[in-house]
Amino acid sequence: QTARVIFSGIQPTGVPHLGNYLGALRQWVTLQDAAAPDETLLYAIVDLHAITLKQDPAQLRQWRREMLASLLAVGLDPKRSIIFCQSDVPQHAELMWILSCNASMGYLSRMTQWKSKLSLPATASPLDLAPPRSPSAPSLPSLKLGLFSYPVLQAADILLYRTTHVPVGEDQSQHLEFAREVANSFNHIFSPTTPLLIPPETILSPAKRIMSLTKPTKKMSKSDPDIKSRILITDSKDVISKKLKSSLTDSLDGISYNHSTRPGVSNLIDIMYYLDESIASSPVQLCADFQNMSLKALKEKVAEAVDTQIRDVRERYESVMGGDAGALADVGDEGARKAEERAKETIGRVRKVLGF
Ligand code: ADP
Ligand code: NA
Repeated sequence: QTARVIFSGIQPTGVPHLGNYLGALRQWVTLQDAAAPDETLLYAIVDLHAITLKQDPAQLRQWRREMLASLLAVGLDPKRSIIFCQSDVPQHAELMWILSCNASMGYLSRMTQWKSKLSLPATASPLDLAPPRSPSAPSLPSLKLGLFSYPVLQAADILLYRTTHVPVGEDQSQHLEFAREVANSFNHIFSPTTPLLIPPETILSPAKRIMSLTKPTKKMSKSDPDIKSRILITDSKDVISKKLKSSLTDSLDGISYNHSTRPGVSNLIDIMYYLDESIASSPVQLCADFQNMSLKALKEKVAEAVDTQIRDVRERYESVMGGDAGALADVGDEGARKAEERAKETIGRVRKVLGF
């Protein structure tokens, strides 16, 4: 197999923010636009992952639609990229079960995501969360099987399409390593002569992690209840300005770049730089250009840059969401049909080597 197959996913848990855009979506579009004709690109709205935490059904339905509109708005083209909802392709869940029968509990226990989602220390073990029930036992968060086995589903998502390359942020490196391990061990047992599953390569996003505007030591996230902590790709110029004006910085003079002593200011510099890398050779260089600027002026400059860069995205989003709802649903259906066609091919081969 020589032609690249690119797969990535995003959870339908709200309208994408600047971190999603700079850290993931913009790169998806770049890969699409640079793709050779024989390359395949698959971009999934991973709703099966979203339900590892509690979701309101009506809200989830709305978010799936908004995410589909967002993917079109950022510039993904359904003629070139297969854009679909994960739950519309049942083979994801089937392959996940098959892979989970050979996935190591020990390996999963050491992974960090389930711990961070439940705000548990890195040393937490799944067995700590299944104490004998007694009135005096301390109340621990409840670890659900789905959240714990999330990396197995993610491995299935990737391996199902015999993906060769996965564009992701740094935070996902651990999961990709797990997917490679799962592929290699499956091949070793069931398909030792010709590797059936393909251990995927990572394409690391060039953009740094974008931090929260109100808590700049934490990453900007869809799940933060404080809407002022993030700029949505659908925010108006006015909203962008207001959110940046109220962003947390510090009371030091001038502009300097140091993520540990000046996280808020450094994050604003990162945002400005990664929006348009042609304006300087690095964030540090950009900072040098701005060193005597006031923080107020910096915030205004960043707001201007954000608006300039995402204005087209916002306008396309409004036109897609305001347009024919049936046409938007058709995009999702067509994507699912194409994805399932490929998924069936892999599942057919997997079933065969298993003895089904
Ligand atoms: P969120 O954490 O906001 O719910 P997801 O987990 O759905 O986002 O991630 C979707 C993609 O966006 C992933 O590739 C992830 O690496 C990237 N991403 C998420 N948050 C950020 C951020 N603050 N900065 C850079 N990239 C991010
Ligand atoms: Na540059």
